[in-house]
Amino acid sequence: MTVNSLTNKRVLLGVSAGIAAYKTPDLVRKISELGAEVQVILTKNADQFVAPLALQAVSGHAVHDHAMTAESESGMGHIDLARWADVVLIAPATANVMARLVAGNADELLTTVCVATEAPIAIAPAMNQQMWQNQATQSNLATLAERGTWIFGPDAGEQACGEVGPGRMLQPVDIAQALAQQFTNGALSGKNVMITAGPTWEALDPVRGITNHSSGTMGYALAQAAIEAGAKVTLVSGPCNITPPDRANVRKVTSALEMHSAVMAEVNTQDIFIGVAAVADYRPVDAADSKIKKNNDEMIIKLVKNPDILADVALHEHRPFCVGFAAETNDVVDYARGKLERKKLDLIAANHVGGTETGFGVPDNAITLISADDVIELPKQNKYGLARALIKEIAKAYKNA
Ligand code: PMT
Repeated sequence: MTVNSLTNKRVLLGVSAGIAAYKTPDLVRKISELGAEVQVILTKNADQFVAPLALQAVSGHAVHDHAMTAESESGMGHIDLARWADVVLIAPATANVMARLVAGNADELLTTVCVATEAPIAIAPAMNQQMWQNQATQSNLATLAERGTWIFGPDAGEQACGEVGPGRMLQPVDIAQALAQQFTNGALSGKNVMITAGPTWEALDPVRGITNHSSGTMGYALAQAAIEAGAKVTLVSGPCNITPPDRANVRKVTSALEMHSAVMAEVNTQDIFIGVAAVADYRPVDAADSKIKKNNDEMIIKLVKNPDILADVALHEHRPFCVGFAAETNDVVDYARGKLERKKLDLIAANHVGGTETGFGVPDNAITLISADDVIELPKQNKYGLARALIKEIAKAYKNA
């Protein structure tokens, strides 16, 4: 069974000027309760129906109004907001805003963000029943549906104007659930997925060690995406400062040897293994029991090779479907292909590291997913969006294996 969740999602809520806007502080609450971060954009006149201060209080963010001024653009401008969002939800969506979406108008902040974003757009229509049934509205609805817009509702019943019929906005709890449902798919339903994440720490003495800049974000995002896809996830994590998805079985480890033991202890029950961790290739031969003193001008540290966790998993007699990561600074695809073959993997996700835009310790990443006979480019985006795209591809390849 999959549980609907919006954990780690960024929802950009567009509130257009309809009477149902008064329900949006509750909608922000319901979406936040499912784990999402919410920012709000009001269209022109929406503040006649809901107080921006109320939306600011429940979302924890200053509310963006309709205007695109030099001042608003110097804060989080329309392109930043378009990139920030995992989904743009417009609720209530009036007949007017639906028409402007169809036309591709970029005449105020919300509509401009909708044109600029790569994130999915969802609408919860709300209007008088006659307006809803109007031919133009129905034709706009069909166009939006054809373009892949998620459409939640409307409900039917007594309306604010006193008429009865279709056009009432869905209740906030139902909109939040419908949104979460879109991120929950059954591509890995019932599968056991083990993911390693984060760096390892190879102790030199009780206070010093060898590590790297992995934040764990990519691995944790994949754990979240696999859970959304219905998998039971075991997350074997090196030392990280981020919160793991609440439905993952987390095994916290420090060193590569501990990570190796934790993985091997449970690998025989796994269907898929994804090695995202930046595991130290070497560890000090002996970690000192007490703090090393600086008595000499030079110090030589002797290192010994760590076991290759991913390669050992791929050689296991109950071998799961194996996905590796390859962090490379140059000749990314060639080196990754070499690792795919040497470690006997099913897939390898090659990512370019060393710059400041993707890879270690930054919010974004870009991946080239390589198998024996295919190369798929997953372009630069935030790690949570990328993880969902990657899990989709992994599920496809696993089913075809
Ligand atoms: O954590 P973030 O800040 O979000 O950054 C994400 C990331 C850049 C760390 C991640 O996307 C990534 O690229 N992870 C792999 C990093 C790495 O160490 O790559 P590698 O080329 O050294 O190793 C290749 C593969 O073998 C990896 O799947 C690695 O987990 C695995 N490995 C390596 C050595 C070892 N002893 N055991 C292993 O299992």
